[in-house]
Amino acid sequence: MRTVPIDPATTTEPARPDRRLPLNRRRLLRLLGAGGVTIAVAGTGALSYRVYDTAALDPGHGDAYDPWRHWRDTPGLLGAVGAAVLAASPHNTQPWIFGIRADAVDVFVDAGRGTGTVDPFRREQHIGIGCALENLVLACQARGLRPEVALLPDGPAGPRLAEVNVRPGTPVPSPLHDAIGDRHTNRGPFEAAAVPRETLGELAGRSDVSGLEVHWITDPAPRAALSRLLVDAAVALCADDRQSRDNFAWFRGHDDEIQRHRDGLTLGGQGFGPLMLAVSRLLPASSRVDGDRFWVKQTATVHTATAAAYGVITAAAPDDRAIQLEAGRLLERVHLAATSRGVALHHMNQITERIDRERETGVAPTFGPRFAELLPRGAQPLLTFRVGYPVRTAQPAPRRSARSVTR
Ligand SMILES: Cc1cc2nc3c(=O)[nH]c(=O)nc-3n(C[C@H](O)[C@H](O)[C@H](O)COP(=O)(O)O)c2cc1C
Repeated sequence: MRTVPIDPATTTEPARPDRRLPLNRRRLLRLLGAGGVTIAVAGTGALSYRVYDTAALDPGHGDAYDPWRHWRDTPGLLGAVGAAVLAASPHNTQPWIFGIRADAVDVFVDAGRGTGTVDPFRREQHIGIGCALENLVLACQARGLRPEVALLPDGPAGPRLAEVNVRPGTPVPSPLHDAIGDRHTNRGPFEAAAVPRETLGELAGRSDVSGLEVHWITDPAPRAALSRLLVDAAVALCADDRQSRDNFAWFRGHDDEIQRHRDGLTLGGQGFGPLMLAVSRLLPASSRVDGDRFWVKQTATVHTATAAAYGVITAAAPDDRAIQLEAGRLLERVHLAATSRGVALHHMNQITERIDRERETGVAPTFGPRFAELLPRGAQPLLTFRVGYPVRTAQPAPRRSARSVTR
């Protein structure tokens, strides 16, 4: 995940034109530096088209971002689904379908919206559904609809992942609900300041699901060890051709793709500053391999280098679908609680993606044993993220509308 085809670190290099190679984001930044590119835009037909194509000068524009603007407007269950679709999901796949009845919402998985070898056991996919379920519950409560959730109401192999029955009640607004429209994954740098332990404790809240826990890794030595593991996992994922391709498949490099699909990963979600973001949007996309290289570098020099703390959600039974749905609900609550306190959160799941891939391919496990050394005995990792105070505000990711994912 998280591929993006430019390399800001190269912007300070001196200009060394090489006309044999096609110009792409990476090369033009090398040649000109960021300031020069914005000047070049004004007088170049091709780049002017790119301004239009990537909507570089108006990030977050268009119908693809409408669900963020109107999520409070619609009443009733359709409105609650409008809040559900703003939840986090792996690679922004939005793998959900909702069935609205008079006094209930059924939640289904859209199995075609997966990430292949990045998530071979569909663990992350079900966690993403859990995230949406949590938003749905909070939005029902805020609308005076008292929700009652049944997970896997048709059994573990049945079609419905959840059934949310509602009864009329009084509206129960909450800070978590109010944060739904401001929650975004922040892949930019974080400040050096630590997040106080007390605040971390508040983010985790209390899980009432047995075996599900949030662990905080704050001390320098284990934090450094987890940082190394995250970088190694990013390198291994990129070296695995199938995983690298499946990872890249959800990258939307052009505005027309974003507006058409309204899903996936975009340049706007990579945590760049405004100038770098505008520049990166103007230039032709470069290759998957460049994107992989860029992601590994960001992981080493920004993501892990500025993580104030890591959170790891562990489970006693990580393969249990109901536990995965509950883990998604917990993850979404942690992210909303962080948002409401001004704490940024960045999901970083390459280690568990490699653990699953090693299991799928039957090779000797390497990442599982290394991660286990950093966790309490018997606790199995499901999800990893970093937190910290953000240097810059994260941008919204595109979303399909509530209507388009409702039956
Ligand atoms: C189960 C799960 C796994 C995720 N893993 C990663 C990850 O490894 N790296 C990353 O940058 N984002 C990850 N994300 C965040 C998604 O990419 C993000 O939620 C999606 O792009 C939508 O963006 P938003 O959270 O800003 O709304 C994950 C999200 C979920 C729910």
